[in-house]
Amino acid sequence: MIFVIFCLFCFEDIGANLQQRIMFELVYSSQVPKCPKRERMTSLNNHSIKYNEKHGISGSLVFYKRKFVGILEGEENNVKRLYQKIKKDSMHTKVSVLAKGFVWERQFTQWNMMYYLPKSNTSSHLEENFFSSNILNLVLLVDKKTYASQIFWGSVRDMFS
Ligand SMILES: Cc1cc2nc3c(=O)[nH]c(=O)nc-3n(C[C@H](O)[C@H](O)[C@H](O)COP(=O)(O)O)c2cc1C
Repeated sequence: MIFVIFCLFCFEDIGANLQQRIMFELVYSSQVPKCPKRERMTSLNNHSIKYNEKHGISGSLVFYKRKFVGILEGEENNVKRLYQKIKKDSMHTKVSVLAKGFVWERQFTQWNMMYYLPKSNTSSHLEENFFSSNILNLVLLVDKKTYASQIFWGSVRDMFS
């Protein structure tokens, strides 16, 4: 009897531990009808860093030539709640899920955003080329352990090809 109670206690503990460790990942893409202002991107970045940190959400968001590709990871309900907010955002359209699933560990230590906006219509291509080659190098180097992260980095690569 004592043994059975001990086993139940252990299983409950293991179950709680697993629940804490399992992460939910979601990859999405969208488009913007017109190029956003720099201030809009800065405030999106600042807001997201604070919100995501508070809700234990890590991941990445890449913006280039009117397209967004993002990955969110964290506790399932937190990720789904945030995705619903993002989906309703009037800044972008055609928001769609590219991949989702459960993973054992985070692929990103925090949330970050990478974007390129031309400074003016006459901006040199040098800065843009520098940005895109840096991203493409990152895509080559980064570990892509999970299905969702493979879809994310694959979609990022496609944005620049
Ligand atoms: C492409 C895209 C990605 C976004 N990602 C995040 C994010 O990771 N975290 C976040 O808090 N807000 C993000 N936002 C902003 C949200 O859509 C929303 O504007 C913000 O959470 C404020 O919502 P609220 O007024 O309901 O609090 C994103 C917006 C866009 C367009």
